Amino acid sequence: MTPAPEAPLVPVAGDPTRAPAVRDMFARIATGYDRANALMSLGIDRAWRNIAIRELGPTADGDVLDLCAGTMDFSGMLKDRARSLTALDFCQEMLDRGRHKAPNARIVCADAREMPLQDSGFNAAVAGFGVRNVPEPERAVAETFRVLRPGGVFVVVDFFRPTTWFARFLAGTYNRVMLPLVGGLVAGDASAYRYLADSMAAWTDREGFQTMCRNSGFAEVTGRELFPPVASIVIARKAL
Ligand SMILES: C[S@@+](CC[C@H](N)C(=O)[O-])C[C@H]1O[C@@H](n2cnc3c(N)ncnc32)[C@H](O)[C@@H]1O
Repeated sequence: MTPAPEAPLVPVAGDPTRAPAVRDMFARIATGYDRANALMSLGIDRAWRNIAIRELGPTADGDVLDLCAGTMDFSGMLKDRARSLTALDFCQEMLDRGRHKAPNARIVCADAREMPLQDSGFNAAVAGFGVRNVPEPERAVAETFRVLRPGGVFVVVDFFRPTTWFARFLAGTYNRVMLPLVGGLVAGDASAYRYLADSMAAWTDREGFQTMCRNSGFAEVTGRELFPPVASIVIARKAL
């Protein structure tokens, strides 16, 4: 008899009621998040973030939104460049761990599906490994479209569902072995890091996310795999 698959501890994509469980999970791991992240990514996320910032182009010098900012790594990298910086996340504990990285940032603790931000207030929005966790990601994308000015750029770096066998193999091995191990050792919460793996498997692939951006009104949407091919980048522009 085939054993029943283990139910995810935190409901993953497709369940609009999972937001409180996701927020509680990030609150639990906030203290160890940066350490675990550094170890698990071996610093590669820094290179991915630099690529994302390059893709923002001159819009990074304007009013910038760090969406699902977490412990504010993107904010820290943009703090000396952006005219103004807003870090939005619905988990206060994550923001508290990161606010020293960008003391000039405006901190907004809110849900990405309903941002308490004015229309057309930003030149750029960047989201690192965050939109995947939002229960109804299409609402977060539509909200980002709303708060961007014409000509604004939205750059997303995330672990989309892998489509090639090589990317599936890399992601599968990494997610099932490394994530829970390092998450358990460093952050003391292996179950939370298992959620991160589950959330990748249940999430859309990059093409699906690009379609989501187009459906929200973005005029020009491109994307590509990063190296190693576990993370990808999507660049969406709002028409002038
Ligand atoms: C994996 S962390 C990434 C943090 C950061 N952006 C980075 O690059 O390291 C995902 C973040 O998304 C936030 N998040 C998840 N769902 C959210 C939602 N519906 N609204 C706002 N933030 C959300 C979580 O609280 C968490 O801080």
